[in-house]
Amino acid sequence: MTKLWGGRFTSQTDSLAAQLNASIAFDWRLAPYDVAASCVWVEELAEIGLLSVEERQQIQTGLQQILAEIQNQTFQIKPDDEDVHTAIERRLFELIGEPAGKIHTGRSRNDQVMTDFLLWLREAGQQVDAAVVEVQKALVERAASDQGVIISGYTHLQRAQPILLSHWWLSHFYPLQRDRQYLAFLLQQANLCPLGSSALAGCPYPINRTRLAQKLGFDAPSPNSIDAVSNRDAAASFLFFASLLSVHLSRLAEALILFSTSEFGFLELPDAFTTGSSIMPQKKNPDMLELTRAKAGTTIGQLTGFLSVLKNLPSAYDKDLQEDKPAVFTAFDTLSLTLPVMYGILQNLSIHPEKISASIDPTLLATEIADFLVMQGIPFRKAHRLVGELIKDCMNRGIALIQVPAERLAKIHESLPQQWVKILDPHYAVERRSQFGGTSSDSVKNQILQAREILQKLP
Ligand code: ARG
Repeated sequence: MTKLWGGRFTSQTDSLAAQLNASIAFDWRLAPYDVAASCVWVEELAEIGLLSVEERQQIQTGLQQILAEIQNQTFQIKPDDEDVHTAIERRLFELIGEPAGKIHTGRSRNDQVMTDFLLWLREAGQQVDAAVVEVQKALVERAASDQGVIISGYTHLQRAQPILLSHWWLSHFYPLQRDRQYLAFLLQQANLCPLGSSALAGCPYPINRTRLAQKLGFDAPSPNSIDAVSNRDAAASFLFFASLLSVHLSRLAEALILFSTSEFGFLELPDAFTTGSSIMPQKKNPDMLELTRAKAGTTIGQLTGFLSVLKNLPSAYDKDLQEDKPAVFTAFDTLSLTLPVMYGILQNLSIHPEKISASIDPTLLATEIADFLVMQGIPFRKAHRLVGELIKDCMNRGIALIQVPAERLAKIHESLPQQWVKILDPHYAVERRSQFGGTSSDSVKNQILQAREILQKLP
């Protein structure tokens, strides 16, 4: 079959060349948006008299039928269909004949594809945002239900200071909120309508681009036709958003994997979100979390891959730009799995409070001792050294901090023996950190309130 653009060609496209060129295998998901944009385009052409009332009706009826075929999955893609746009135009011709040939007046696939893509992105963005909110809700609910549980906080993966487990859950809430804000920003920036830019130079017919943009739900028409057909910032930004979000999910996944090991034993992952081993009957493997971690790497690859595609393109449209879709669609599809899976895991895991408490060994309170000495007027550096020496002593003598004789403590400061038990109480250490953003129970309660409020509002 002759291509829609085949007039000046004397031979058919080589079949492998056609395969390389074709995007229908991955751009079909744009089909409903392509129809929506075409319907509005046709109205503009009719407004300026390039279509008769009858032609406009015929085209729109044909497009409605095509939309129905897309929705009920009866649209038959033919081997010669190069991309979603040409497939739909080919089908329109089959349905209504000659008038179908007028739909592409003043339009190019270059402005068409970008319009379709941005329409898709708006909805895809809303879906991802909703899925992120679910994960955030699960984190807040964990924080609310695990209140009161003290866990060791880690730095350098070494036990550091006691914190509330709820505080830790919430530390994974805020990165997701920043992701949502970034997504909202990129969608806002992408809300300019490219349609009416044509191939690169702009549309030669007096269509009303502002009306066109409004009808398609954009804020305004894009301001420069060359930029409009080459701008892939929305795709690149979405890939960056997906990468950073995936990194945030990956870090949470890594922590959950560690905490679920026998070595930590802090939590048990739900059966529905783990797998067994084909050889070792006792095993319960965190495959889904491992894949969440791995997918972050893959998504980062898609971002860097696509930026590399963009960096050498001089201006306007080059076919290289077609690579935006496999990258963005894959990143989107990945998030459509990793986010709800993370939600399911967070909702259904169970924690082991006794194992968590066992992580609080008294050396985590070393900073508290130093802080106590500071309150007695000793400079922090000196206090740090005195406590360091005390710990070294304990290690040499094989005793725990709580067993240090009162005389030894009194050598450091006279009031230390009397306060010793209190200083070594992890609850005391946690509750002292009551400033905004700290780990005390009041501060964490505030964070829970704030987080719930955040989820009621737009990002
Ligand atoms: N499938 C193409 C893409 O995704 C559509 C635009 C084609 N434009 C062209 N001048 N061949 O980029």
